[in-house]
Amino acid sequence: MTLSSTEKQRLKKKYGSWALVTGATSGIGLELAEQLASAGFNLIISSRHANRLNDTMLQIRRRHEVEIMVIQADMSDASAIGHVVQQVQHFDIGLLVLAAGFGTSGPFIDGSVHTEINMLRVNCESVLTLTHYYAQRFISKGRGGIILLSSMVAFQGVPYAANYAATKAYVQSLGEALAVELKPFGVDILAAAPGPVHTGFGARAHMTMRKALRPSDIGVPILKALGRKNTVLPGRLTKLLVYALNTIPRFLKIHVMKKVMLGMTNQRSKIS
Ligand SMILES: NC(=O)c1ccc[n+]([C@@H]2O[C@H](COP(=O)([O-])OP(=O)(O)OC[C@H]3O[C@@H](n4cnc5c(N)ncnc54)[C@H](OP(=O)(O)O)[C@@H]3O)[C@@H](O)[C@H]2O)c1
Repeated sequence: MTLSSTEKQRLKKKYGSWALVTGATSGIGLELAEQLASAGFNLIISSRHANRLNDTMLQIRRRHEVEIMVIQADMSDASAIGHVVQQVQHFDIGLLVLAAGFGTSGPFIDGSVHTEINMLRVNCESVLTLTHYYAQRFISKGRGGIILLSSMVAFQGVPYAANYAATKAYVQSLGEALAVELKPFGVDILAAAPGPVHTGFGARAHMTMRKALRPSDIGVPILKALGRKNTVLPGRLTKLLVYALNTIPRFLKIHVMKKVMLGMTNQRSKIS
């Protein structure tokens, strides 16, 4: 899927010339970075691995004539996030895409609490810190956009991915509230809540996704929704799954999601 030229112009006009994309080396963040480059945005891309960042920069530059700056940073480390903010303070960033994140699956008590806390830091704390900083900057300019990566798991508890789903419920709630709070200041916040997408996410979360979208199915719908909606369910499969779940009460949704996760987690042998 590609952005129409009208849409590219709209994004550029509304959000300016530089976008900061975290988690830009893989999956959804990479797709959004590519789409933004195709619209003419200069990019600041960030992730933990310098080699992947350089590969991503070369890959995007081969196709688009834009400036790209890379910043290696671990989003679970508060001081590294401060370092990112400092390094880019002189760039006129108008769009922030917070795609860095990861998940876990399997029985809650069998997982490492350190990994779970790390996930809370990456999926929530870094999102809070960067959203707070850029919301202030964007308000002072009277314009800006922030895309947060929520998930369809954000709308109910999910057994066997309990903490991951809780981190996404946080992101979804933060996004919904800030979208309304910051609108009068010209700042657009979008919570993008995809269903399963084939990316590096599944392997890291020890999940196998049978039916899933591709990042290229959801990048354009997410960017098209920015400034027009507060939440987007990108892709047909996402809409189908969320709308189907919405026909049943929340306590039943949790049981349905338990079955779904039992089918997806590779940690099934640990579940009695
Ligand atoms: N795939 C799905 O089914 C799905 C569905 C709904 C929502 N989401 C959400 O979408 C977002 C993107 O996930 P994805 O599916 O695109 O996964 P992905 O392919 O694994 O990409 C994750 C990106 O985040 C970066 N990252 C991971 N941990 C990081 C850390 N501690 N510090 C800095 N960067 C880090 C990774 O780079 P490095 O490893 O090099 O750091 C990579 O660039 C996540 O927030 C995820 O929860 C995914």
